[in-house]
Amino acid sequence: MKVLVVGSGGREHAIIKKIRENPAVTELYALPGNGGIAQDAVCVDIGAKDIDNIVRFAYENKIDYAIVAPDDPLVLGCVDALEAHGIRCFGPRANAAIIEGSKVFSKNLMKKYGIPTAAYETFDDADKAIEYLKTAPIPTVVKADGLALGKGVIIAMTREEAYDAVKEIMLDKAFGKSGNQIVIEEFMEGPEVTVLSFTDGNVVVPMVSSMDHKRAGDNDTGLNTGGMGTVAPNPYYTKEIADECMEKIFLPTISALKKEGRTFKGCLYFGLMITKDGPKVVEYNCRFGDPETQVVLPLLESDLLTVMQAVTDEKLAETEVRFKDANACCVIMASEGYPVSYEKGFELTIEEEVQDRVFVAGAKLDGDVLKTSGGRVVGCSGIGKTLPEAIDAAYAVVDKVHFGNAFYRHDIGQRALKAYRE
Ligand code: AMP
Ligand code: GLY
Repeated sequence: MKVLVVGSGGREHAIIKKIRENPAVTELYALPGNGGIAQDAVCVDIGAKDIDNIVRFAYENKIDYAIVAPDDPLVLGCVDALEAHGIRCFGPRANAAIIEGSKVFSKNLMKKYGIPTAAYETFDDADKAIEYLKTAPIPTVVKADGLALGKGVIIAMTREEAYDAVKEIMLDKAFGKSGNQIVIEEFMEGPEVTVLSFTDGNVVVPMVSSMDHKRAGDNDTGLNTGGMGTVAPNPYYTKEIADECMEKIFLPTISALKKEGRTFKGCLYFGLMITKDGPKVVEYNCRFGDPETQVVLPLLESDLLTVMQAVTDEKLAETEVRFKDANACCVIMASEGYPVSYEKGFELTIEEEVQDRVFVAGAKLDGDVLKTSGGRVVGCSGIGKTLPEAIDAAYAVVDKVHFGNAFYRHDIGQRALKAYRE
């Protein structure tokens, strides 16, 4: 079987390592992949947003199955285009990927179907937004409608910051067209939980829960990043909360999308906050999270390709999706200066014995030599029966990965450990 994965980050590397475990896979391609992924798949230099060339490559090479991992190609209709050429895919079509592509859409969907989320207003006019903010409760949260590389959310602690956020998004167009509309929503408090789920549009199968660490520095200091580390499972996601999420959030979301004629097939990401009034949706993503995938997939015991194909064939109800009863931790090693500016081009060495445990996000091959090429460079993952064992295992991998200007957080998993003690 010939399988293709669209994307180039640590998440895609984690997916590829898992897909390779299936002996039916004879050829595995990554478009465009990266220098580290090249160890595990054939990388082809076609960008993840270059839909025409992705489709051409898949068609000409008789690809049997395509996994579209990142948000951009999903929102742009990569799955629709591949399917139009007879290629089976994992990932939602554009009309369902809009659940991430437009926050105005997702908020309105939740309101219409009574799915718990922060109270909100939407605006397409900056003056009206500013007028509203004059009396809105503070702190408040201002969000660009469209995709913004995870940066389109501004938490305003004062009224002035809220006005500035509107100006930055709507007038200065800091996130381009993504800021033509905005959502202004209630500031929520409580621990955050990520739940990735498989859904074929009929049933939803949550994967093991996880916890991201978004700030750049230890003890949650410094700037927001794409994620500096993850652990799974998340201690705040108790059995009771899980049941409540299934009843009030997961099933209602799947059936709402179906009712709207936007059946979602793929991985639906629930970003949740456990507030004092119960779990509420912070955001939906139409894809696997990065770096959540790097802790969730290593715990998946069932065969990933089999589960994905069951999603495509709408046979998820009959398919076993089993996770190990264990903990996982992933520590991101980044280039010093990330997420603002950083030097690249340092040699990256990953000691042989930990190759399997390292997911490469930002490195390219210069001849035979791997060199850093991004802010987040690698994710080092560890599994253990207990969380402390998983954390130790992940940091033991960190010690065996070397590159210039490396920095990483030293406290990944500590918040979760504290939660277990509370
Ligand atoms: P998002 O891109 O929507 O996930 O937002 C990024 C981060 O901003 C989330 O992970 C939360 O930490 C925070 N955030 C987003 N919306 C809210 C909200 N309504 N209240 C509090 N924090 C929020
Ligand atoms: N880790 C957050 C995301 O993938 O959007």
